[in-house]
Amino acid sequence: MSIRPLVIIPDSKLRLISEPVKEITSEIRQLAEDMLETMYDAPGVGLAAIQIGVPVRMVTMDVSKSEEERQPMVLINPEIVWASEERRVYEEGCLSIPEYYEEVERPDRVRFRYMTLQGETVEQEADGLLATCVQHEIDHLNGVLFIDYLSKLKRDRVLTKFRKAARREAGA
Ligand code: NI
Repeated sequence: MSIRPLVIIPDSKLRLISEPVKEITSEIRQLAEDMLETMYDAPGVGLAAIQIGVPVRMVTMDVSKSEEERQPMVLINPEIVWASEERRVYEEGCLSIPEYYEEVERPDRVRFRYMTLQGETVEQEADGLLATCVQHEIDHLNGVLFIDYLSKLKRDRVLTKFRKAARREAGA
């Protein structure tokens, strides 16, 4: 297992549409392990493969908020199959947009379907943090970031900040 570097905005990789996983190979299992390790190290509650630069439809999550009782989830080819009309606001952050948090409104409850690393298809209903997290991570697979839901003013402000930081890092 290894911790992989995180892809940070404004890296254009974050806008790619990730490809479905066709077969659960040893590379896919390795990728899942690396994603979990990278996510726990960050620390974060969710990570999409593209956030470590791999454009495949795989997500890791752990919303247990407890170091002792970790509940790692690996979602392969996840999709939302139902979303409630009822919406709620939750403060979100993203490992690809470090130290930036903002309130986002999304459906309150969702039903989602995915394949496990064992090749089993699972359908699950979620509310609360898990519902927010799974919607946020599936967005990543479609090149969507949570800042896309904010006003243009707020989004431009955060993008400008990270563009400047990227230029500084490049020594320009
Ligand atoms: Ni994110």
